[in-house]
Amino acid sequence: MTGQLKDFLATRKQVIEETLPTFIQKLNTTQSLKNAMLYSLEAGGKRLRPVLVLALLHTYKKPERDGLATACAIEMIHTYSLIHDDLPCMDDDDLRRGKPTNHKVFGEALAVLAGDSLLTESFSIIVNDPYCPSEQKLRLITELVKAAGAEGMVGGQVLDMEGEAKELSLLELQHIHENKTAKLLAYSLLAGGILAGAPECDIENLRKIGYHLGIAFQIRDDILDIEGSEDRIGKPVGSDSVNEKNTYPKLLTMQGAKDKLNDHISQAQLFIKELTVEAPLLLEICELIANRDH
Ligand code: IPE
Ligand code: IPE
Ligand code: MG
Ligand code: MG
Ligand code: MG
Repeated sequence: MTGQLKDFLATRKQVIEETLPTFIQKLNTTQSLKNAMLYSLEAGGKRLRPVLVLALLHTYKKPERDGLATACAIEMIHTYSLIHDDLPCMDDDDLRRGKPTNHKVFGEALAVLAGDSLLTESFSIIVNDPYCPSEQKLRLITELVKAAGAEGMVGGQVLDMEGEAKELSLLELQHIHENKTAKLLAYSLLAGGILAGAPECDIENLRKIGYHLGIAFQIRDDILDIEGSEDRIGKPVGSDSVNEKNTYPKLLTMQGAKDKLNDHISQAQLFIKELTVEAPLLLEICELIANRDH
């Protein structure tokens, strides 16, 4: 990783981590709910999705301030998805971001409700963003619903669950990964492009980049569930095999999964080179996603 990327990731992560809790602290609601929301939101994480929004604004030489609210909204939806993903009725995991999972600390009911409110409040953050014009908000929200809801992440989680202990084809597995992970990750790029006023041809390209990067991201996640270190990934290793999940290494062997990961990264890089702007930062983020160890 170059010094420039390292510096970009570290400084933007810090801005996001300083901003995220402010949206929760000002809510006029019961403190126990705020505590449960803040617990998972402040537990760390790579903050890749919000950083991608800021990286897009940076790429189009627009003020990153314009993307901060949407970036935080996406991280809140992502965090809600993790809280629910870890519940006993789903993946039943006890460790997340290096800490006991939300339901282990607050109980299942409050964990479900903390997730519910992270999801709902994220829309309010976009709606109330003082830096974003109304017509952009409408587009941002329309796309967010498609990426995070029944036609996106939630639908993908259902397919992932229904696929447990079954043999799926590569096409079916790809469809699960596209929905449960790629669509929200792609949305970060798309939202950044919309906020930056990128030309429509670039917006369509960003969807393709997001698709490939998102699938690559989940393949790497599947690999780390086998080869990763619990200390580094901050979640249990081997959760997928316990749950009899369909994963790329299971279907294609470990080497086959790594080859597929590299194919998707190469595809993403090709589409990045077709953008109307130079995007060295995005090219480097591709490498990071391919090689990450957490
Ligand atoms: C984990 O996402 C869930 C997937 C979609 C693979 P991340 O690996 O981005 O988790 P954090 O945000 O860094 O904790
Ligand atoms: C979950 O995929 C994707 C989500 C939408 C949360 P995983 O179940 O593999 O994510 P981890 O490994 O628990 O982070
Ligand atoms: Mg899961
Ligand atoms: Mg899981
Ligand atoms: Mg996983």
